[in-house]
Amino acid sequence: MVSHIIKNKSLKQFNTFGIEAKADFFADFNNTQDLLEIISSNEFKENKNLILGGGSNILFTKDFNGIVLHNLTKGIRKEQVSKTEYHVTAAAGEVWHELVLYALANNLGGIENLSLIPGYVGASPMQNIGAYGVEIKDVFVCLKALEISTGEIKIFNKEQCHFGYRESFFKRAGKGKYIILEVTFQLSTEHRINTSYGAIEAELKKMNLEPSISHISKAVCAIRQSKLPDPRAIGNAGSFFKNPSISIEQYHQLKINFPDLPAYPVDEHYIKTAAGYLIEKCGLKGYRNGDAGVHAMQALVLVNYGHAKGNQIYDLSCLVIEKVKATFGIELEREVNII
Ligand code: FAD
Ligand code: EPU
Repeated sequence: MVSHIIKNKSLKQFNTFGIEAKADFFADFNNTQDLLEIISSNEFKENKNLILGGGSNILFTKDFNGIVLHNLTKGIRKEQVSKTEYHVTAAAGEVWHELVLYALANNLGGIENLSLIPGYVGASPMQNIGAYGVEIKDVFVCLKALEISTGEIKIFNKEQCHFGYRESFFKRAGKGKYIILEVTFQLSTEHRINTSYGAIEAELKKMNLEPSISHISKAVCAIRQSKLPDPRAIGNAGSFFKNPSISIEQYHQLKINFPDLPAYPVDEHYIKTAAGYLIEKCGLKGYRNGDAGVHAMQALVLVNYGHAKGNQIYDLSCLVIEKVKATFGIELEREVNII
C-alpha cells in the first residue's frame, strides 16, 4: 500500500454538514507527484474515487465504499499580461477566500464580490461559484486538470468548461473524469466595481465606506455573516437548491396569488425566482425533523443541528421539493453534490 493511503477514515471533519460517514480509503496529496503515486496504486485502480476539497458542497448519504483523495496542494502566482491585467494562478488546494485576500493585498480586482465563499480553489469551476452579481466565469482564463483514465494533464479554456449558473462541464459530461490541479483567473488593477446586488450598496452606506475592492469585500463578508449559518457552529453546505428559472407566463400566473414573488431577468422567455422564497411560503422555514432542518433565517439552506444522518438531510430535501412542487408547480433542483 502507498504510504499516504489510510483505511476506514471518518469524513466528519471533511464535510461542512458535519455528517458522520466513513471512506474505505483516504489519501491527502500535496503535489502532483504524490497524486500520480496514489492513482497508480491498487487501492485507486480497484475502487471508485472521490476528489474532495473543503467538503462544503457535498452531502454524504452513506459511507463511501472507495477512495477519497483530499487535495492539499498550495501556491499562488501572478503574471502581468498587460499594463493593468494579471493572470493569477492558484493551486486547487488553496482555500478560496485566501485567494480573495491575495488579490486584495495585490490591489487586484475581480473576485472581491466572491469573498468568504467556503471551499477550495479546485472546486470553484465545478459549479462556477457565484455570489453578489459575480461568477468565476467572469474572470476565468483556464484550468489544468489530470485526466484520470489516461494520467494526462489537460488545459481547459473558458469555452471548454461550459459554465452556466451553478453548472459546468465538470458537473455534466466531465463528471468524475478529471482532477482539477490549478485554476487561472484574470484580475485587474483597473477595478470594475460591481455593487449591482442591492444589499452591497446598503451595506456600504451602513458602514460609511466608499466603494473600493477591499470595502466591497468587507460589505460582502458582513452580509454573508448576517445571513448564512457558520458551518463551524451549525452544519450546512450553503444553498441546498438552485434558484429555478420559470417561464414569463408561469411567473405572471403565480404573481396573482404571490404578488411579492422575487424575479430576476434571464432572457425574454424566462425569469429566475428565489427558491428561498418558495420554501418559506410553503411554511418550511425553520422546520425541523430531529436534527435535520430548514434554516430559520435562510430557507434555502438545510442544516444539521448535530447528529443528523446524511439520508435524513436528503429525505428533508425530498419533502421540500415535494411541497414546492405542490404549491407552485416548480421543481427545485439540488445544488449540493449527493454522494
Ligand atoms: P467540495 O464540497 O469538496 O466538492 C464539491 C464537488 O467538487 C464534489 O463533487 C467534488 O468531488 C468536486 N471537486 C472538488 N475539488 C475537486 C478537484 N480539485 N477536481 C475535481 N473535482 C473536485 N457556493 C456558491 O457558488 N456561492 C455561494 O455564495 C456559496 N455560499 C456558501 C455558503 C456556505 C455557508 C457554504 C457551506 C457553502 C457555500 N457555497 C457557495 C457552496 C460551496 O462553498 C462551493 O460550491 C465551493 O466551491 C465548494 O468547494 P469545496 O472545496 O468545499 O468542494
Ligand atoms: N428569500 C426568502 N426567504 C428566505 C430566503 C430568501 O423569501 O428564507 C428571498 C428574498 O426575497 C430574497 C431572495 O430570496 O430577497 C434572495 O435571497 P438571498 O439574497 O439571500 O440570495 P439567495 O437567492 O437565497 C443566492 C445564492 C447564494 C449567494 C447569494 C448572494 C443560489 C442557489 N444561491 O442565494 O449562494 O451567496 O444568492 O448572491 O444561487 C450557495 O450557492 O451555496 C449560496 C449561498
